[in-house]
Amino acid sequence: MNPLFITLEGIEGSGKSTNIKVINNYLNDKNINYINTREPGGSEVGDQLRNILLNTEKKLSNQTELLLMLADRVNHIETLIQPNLEKGITVISDRFMDSSYAYQGGGREMGLDTITKIIDGLNIIQPNLTLLFDLPVEMALERARKRSKLDRFESEDYDFHQRIRETYLFLAEEDSERIKIIDASKDIEEVESQVRKILEQKL
Ligand code: TMP
Repeated sequence: MNPLFITLEGIEGSGKSTNIKVINNYLNDKNINYINTREPGGSEVGDQLRNILLNTEKKLSNQTELLLMLADRVNHIETLIQPNLEKGITVISDRFMDSSYAYQGGGREMGLDTITKIIDGLNIIQPNLTLLFDLPVEMALERARKRSKLDRFESEDYDFHQRIRETYLFLAEEDSERIKIIDASKDIEEVESQVRKILEQKL
């Protein structure tokens, strides 16, 4: 079987990270080799960019924020994603390109066309499968705010997160072959079963 590039997307507190374990267990059962990674921060350089990007004390313009996310992504593709796929290893990334569309394009209101123009020529590869963990913003923020100190994005207001959710749903409508919506408002077992069902269909 060809290796897959699988990405997880969703607003803060949507339960993406918890469900990486579900995907890992599924792939282990099928004896499929994989690695887990994330954005921003999937590489050594990426970790440094992540510190800058999530730090609430550093002021960044929307454009700078977008370009740093893209710098992280290009480096991540070159140093980790592509080399692993070439070795036949499936790659699971907690966030990827759809996050830039949703957060910078939607949340920061830069617009989706602007992002498409900027990435033209960057060789951003397309995931084979994207799981979008969707739930109402109120519910997600309540979960996220129970966690530790809030980062630059988590501390934004309700409308920012609502725009992100809406952009994600728009992207899923536009590319329903690749982006599969998971109802993340359900309890853990129900969400897990939705994830497993989608993997079964894809594999
Ligand atoms: P997380 O790894 O805890 O989800 O945090 C990463 C944060 O960075 C999250 O709030 C979403 C944000 N982000 C963007 O705004 N644009 C991007 O392209 C990516 C990858 C992440």
